[in-house]
Amino acid sequence: MRTSIYPGSFDPITYGHIDIIDRASKITDKLIVAVLNNDEKKSLFTMEERIEMIKDAVKDYKNVEVESFGGLLVDYVKEKGANIIIRGLRAVTDFEYELQLAQTNRELYKDIDTIFMLTNLQYSYLSSSIVKQVASYKGDISKFVTPFVAKKLGQKYGNIV
Ligand code: PNS
Repeated sequence: MRTSIYPGSFDPITYGHIDIIDRASKITDKLIVAVLNNDEKKSLFTMEERIEMIKDAVKDYKNVEVESFGGLLVDYVKEKGANIIIRGLRAVTDFEYELQLAQTNRELYKDIDTIFMLTNLQYSYLSSSIVKQVASYKGDISKFVTPFVAKKLGQKYGNIV
């Protein structure tokens, strides 16, 4: 059984992430969406909220699970008996950082491979930060996130009660 890990901050999950999950779920037996628990990185949503939003978005996928992880990604990957990390690439600007991440992980754990999936062109401009910015100015985010996430963002920014 092949288990793959899709790690990230997911603050919050966007349609760009969901597109990667959709495609990654088809090339692996089990896909674990792993949410980084990192106190240093200031996130808008709590871990529980981020997991709740991802679980809502992937509820129809039978082979996708959602978990949190802390510490080194490679240790988590080992613990799960996985050896594939999935990352999305939106544009060439993502490449340098992703290369560094993948090479470091490979140095730390030689049996690991990172598979890069090109984000659908439709979502290539999308990021959680951009979505938060638009939501903070009460812009329309319905094309970027699920209705559930849009509602949660509305609540955060005092748009919806
Ligand atoms: O969605 P993001 O913020 O781009 O995801 C980054 C993530 C979570 C994949 C990366 O920060 C990570 O793996 N952090 C865990 C710590 C770690 O293993 N660092 C060493 C690899 S450079």
